[in-house]
Amino acid sequence: MRVILAISVAALGLTGCTGEVETGRSSFGDLCAGCHGASGQGDGPMAMGLPERPADLTRLSAANGGVFPLVAVMSKIDGYAKGTPHHGAMPAFWPLLEGRTVLVKTGDGVLTPTPQPLVSLAAYIESIQR
Ligand code: HEC
Repeated sequence: MRVILAISVAALGLTGCTGEVETGRSSFGDLCAGCHGASGQGDGPMAMGLPERPADLTRLSAANGGVFPLVAVMSKIDGYAKGTPHHGAMPAFWPLLEGRTVLVKTGDGVLTPTPQPLVSLAAYIESIQR
């Protein structure tokens, strides 16, 4: 029980953990930068060929009243938000659903077991908000 509590505390302070952000930065470069651009502003090399412009991922907090929309971002990445894996121009990243899970607060004090790679990616995206 003590182990579970320690992990959940680590996961809650997303931007406070630089290791998390570094891991996320690396995944972002591999999986996301092609469309969203190295800076996350939606200008990657693959963006031209898409029917929709990839979102500027540095403005998510700004578009949400200054609060980083953590749950929406994670849902978007893992495809949960859409219900189906291939709907819209952005693919869902099921491989990120694999691996060890950590507990993340997803609202109203609810702790949801969430795959570590997804948490890292969300922490990185939170770190590039401007
Ligand atoms: C094939 C191109 C492509 C790839 C690869 C891609 N995206 Fe996207 N993404 C898009 C497009 C296009 C949109 C806007 C349309 C939509 O919402 O589907 C988008 C939207 C988003 C949104 C929603 C932004 C908002 O305004 O709510 C998030 C968050 C996001 N992407 C994160 C990611 C992350 C993280 C990765 C890497 C795991 C990634 N994307 C990989 C094309 C891509």
